[in-house]
Amino acid sequence: MRTTNADVPRPRFHFTPRRHWMNDPNGLVHHGGLWHLYFQHNPEGPDWGNMSWGHATSPDLEHWTEHPVALRHRVGEQIFSGSVVASRQGDDVLTAYYTSAYDDGRQAQSRATSHDGGFTWLTDPGNPVLDRGTTAFRDPKVIRHDDGHTARWVMLTVEADDRQVRLYSSDDLLSWEHLSTFGPLGASGVVWECPDLVRLPLDGDDDDPRWVLLLSTNPVGEDPDPSGSSMHYVVGHFDGTSFVPDSPELRPLDHGRDYYAAVTFDDAPSGEAVTIGWMSNWRYAHRFPSTPWRGAMSLPRVLALRTVQGRPTLVQAPPAFVRELLEHGSAAEVAVGDAPALLSFSGHTLVELRWDPSTTGALDLRLRGEADSFVDLAHEPRAGTLRITRGGRAAESVHRDFPSTSTLPLPGDRAARLLLSLDGPLLEVFVHDGEATASNLVVLGAEGVTASLGTARRGTVHVTAVDIDAPVDLDAPAPAAAVG
Ligand code: FRU
Repeated sequence: MRTTNADVPRPRFHFTPRRHWMNDPNGLVHHGGLWHLYFQHNPEGPDWGNMSWGHATSPDLEHWTEHPVALRHRVGEQIFSGSVVASRQGDDVLTAYYTSAYDDGRQAQSRATSHDGGFTWLTDPGNPVLDRGTTAFRDPKVIRHDDGHTARWVMLTVEADDRQVRLYSSDDLLSWEHLSTFGPLGASGVVWECPDLVRLPLDGDDDDPRWVLLLSTNPVGEDPDPSGSSMHYVVGHFDGTSFVPDSPELRPLDHGRDYYAAVTFDDAPSGEAVTIGWMSNWRYAHRFPSTPWRGAMSLPRVLALRTVQGRPTLVQAPPAFVRELLEHGSAAEVAVGDAPALLSFSGHTLVELRWDPSTTGALDLRLRGEADSFVDLAHEPRAGTLRITRGGRAAESVHRDFPSTSTLPLPGDRAARLLLSLDGPLLEVFVHDGEATASNLVVLGAEGVTASLGTARRGTVHVTAVDIDAPVDLDAPAPAAAVG
């Protein structure tokens, strides 16, 4: 029997906290051979509150180990989002900047340092170190700006309600000077959160770099947009002082409903821009029926900037381990046309589809599990779109705004390539290795997934699939008490 209250299986190749609430990734840094992921966490319950920084590390971006809470809320002060940077002086010091959200409503930036590779932290006695006396000043992201002549630290913050990014600079990670302010821009009725600014060579040409501003926007006000929170990007130039956009437009960064607060790792190997986002939506995050955890991180993504249809476009490729797993997957030429082909997966599965839309015409892939819910992916070659619809009673029972359709570009005039990463409730779709992405929570149940694959005209679809068996390591010691 199909159940409406879907049993939500824990993801196997994505990070979820062992217990309790999680939202934004914080303090992403590569250090000492480990990828450090801190995260907005309520160490005491399944809902947002008591905000603290949880901590996990991974040697490979696939397997994560959770550690004791790194920065714990205190009386009168919660620890909101922020970033960590690794020293460039050859020592082992890590510096964290986070927002102190005080009970009186003030938000200001505070600092902490770690001398043991990111496991324990000492907060600065002079905190907060950057305070405007305002109430929506948050999410410090410190980046390194090095133009070959001068190198310095730049901190991006938001005045969230004003839809502004404020930039500061520092030579010593101690004192900060205001550089410039960017915004407001784009739709009103949202707050701006979690900014990042990423240098990316256009089409791989390091002599032609652009800077890409990443922004998370969350609808607010009387009648907020029911589609909820989402991410955007702006391509432009940055001279170390001001960010100047190429065009004053916020472009969607991910076309799904559940991708937010993504930022890059500091000091990633080879200077790669690697992001992780939170796979949920403020519209219904508190209603998602997973237990004893609530909140999951996305797959890491490797950013690039490529000219697509004449425009510099943010490309978000899946991480190397996904490619490697697929190389060991089972490959088949699936003949479809008269009747849909049926495929079975564990539900912790990577699937790559390659086909020629000029032969097959429209393509439809419908996923079902034991819950009364479905996910339908429909490619319409003439429109050049892929529509991803999640629906059914289990989806409706999460929240009235949970059933949804996401639409993303998938050209119909060339060979098509689609990567689906389904890990329990997390469905991430990559078109052409990341030219477009869509991330959505799904509630298909825990008993495996059947995919029904149909095409308008007879043809073959090349399918490569791999089920991921390894469960997450829940035997590691439970997180201990506060540090710092
Ligand atoms: C974004 C956000 C941040 C804030 C944090 C609080 O999701 O609202 O702006 O620092 O979450 O948990």
